[in-house]
Amino acid sequence: MSRPRKTTILIADDDRSHRLMLTTMMQEWGFGTREASDGREALDIVRSKPVDMILMDMRMPNMDGIEATKAICSYNPSIPIVIVTAYSSIPTAVEAVKSGAFDYVTKPIDFEALRVVMERALEHTRLREENERLRCQLARFQASELTGSSPAMQKLLEMIALVAPTDTTVLITGESGTGKGLVARAIHVNSARREKPLVEVNCAAIPATLIESELFGHEKGAFTGADRQRKGRFTTADGGTIFLDEIGELPLSMQAKLLRAIQEGQIQRVGSDAAIPVDVRLIAATNRDIEKMVHEGLFREDLYYRLNVFAIATPSLRERVEDIPALAQGFLAAFYKKSGKVVKGITPRAMDLLLRYTWPGNVRELENAMERAVILLQGDYVSPAELPLPLQALEKKIEGDDPGPGPADNGLRGADLACIEKQAILNQLKETGGNKSETARRLGITRRTLKLKLKKYGSDTEAD
Ligand SMILES: Nc1ncnc2c1ncn2[C@@H]1O[C@H](COP(=O)(O)OP(=O)(O)OP(=O)(O)O)[C@@H](O)[C@H]1O
Ligand SMILES: [Mg+2]
Repeated sequence: MSRPRKTTILIADDDRSHRLMLTTMMQEWGFGTREASDGREALDIVRSKPVDMILMDMRMPNMDGIEATKAICSYNPSIPIVIVTAYSSIPTAVEAVKSGAFDYVTKPIDFEALRVVMERALEHTRLREENERLRCQLARFQASELTGSSPAMQKLLEMIALVAPTDTTVLITGESGTGKGLVARAIHVNSARREKPLVEVNCAAIPATLIESELFGHEKGAFTGADRQRKGRFTTADGGTIFLDEIGELPLSMQAKLLRAIQEGQIQRVGSDAAIPVDVRLIAATNRDIEKMVHEGLFREDLYYRLNVFAIATPSLRERVEDIPALAQGFLAAFYKKSGKVVKGITPRAMDLLLRYTWPGNVRELENAMERAVILLQGDYVSPAELPLPLQALEKKIEGDDPGPGPADNGLRGADLACIEKQAILNQLKETGGNKSETARRLGITRRTLKLKLKKYGSDTEAD
């Protein structure tokens, strides 16, 4: 069994020969070992030296296995304890597991079984540490530009946290307006390249004839109008990240050249044979179905595989409806600060429409809707009258419809809405650390309304 050198097992057993046998076995399996002849000694070792796992006998003088388990768990609950027990003491071993031991094995020891339990315990610890690490990284992303606490958003942030510190090429796919640009930036600023440039190239905005020179640069006189040498974007991005947005629009001839540049880690200026090494991390994004483009022969398969090393799909706004209140409120706040108007929030009726609408343009469409609302606004609260036409049409449709139990075809049912509303409230409560006034402010409702809603959803547990 190959283990990192430092994994150390503490063997607590009063029977010297038994201890020796376990120690020998552990060392044979590649672990480091420590020994304790009773529970008290085991506790002392845990307090003074690094230990990754404990094999604990039950019946020992001074402090028995169960007492030692309790004491060690309360001192450091993250060290897995495996109880080694005789058949006659199984009930006590079960009690020890209830007090925090990881599991137990019976004597005489079946080493295969022990190995399996130990593997599981180490894996458990590893996963917990990994989780902890991710949580720390996520905490940093909360401060990034990406708003949202829905499960879909959490998953996205997790993916960013995982891939950001690596140098891996990332392909971001997702509908228009779902924040692909923000994801690319979040990856760059959370990578070791953050001090170096992030160069964004919108492949759709550059004419096919100019794209090669734009990316790789050109020599003086390379083509008509090239009156001096020019550095390409790859060179500008050296040491940093290049973000090729709308990669699906890249002409096939250019795809071949890009592939070569990625494979060789070097570029050639237009009009020159000299290879220039570049050190860039590549992030690409597209809202097109690139796999379909590959099948249709519009996108090179080999380039697709080169780009799609780590795929991130940004969720549509429909997949994270519960983020709408926070997003809308955030955009509103940003725009009204700029406009100098006093905007207090969004009326429940308008919020209802924001939640029901299907947002084909995703976050960008919501952002535009809020900007427009602030311009149009006369009163204190954004009402349906300030929302874009499709949402007003939706309101008319809802009014005209019999609000029966069937699903509304362009929106959500009452029960779904209540569920989303509840989730939005709980998310905000969590984000504000349970601060009801702040939660109400963020959601654009009064504190009283919030309390009523919490009561309705049976979530009004804290008395503040
Ligand atoms: N999670 C989010 N939180 C806050 N703002 C967001 C979020 N997602 C997107 N936005 C905002 O929505 C707008 C659109 O985002 P972005 O330009 O990144 O979308 P995109 O996926 O690249 O769209 P396209 O495919 O059309 O280029 C931006 O103004 C961005 O700031
Ligand atoms: Mg974009």
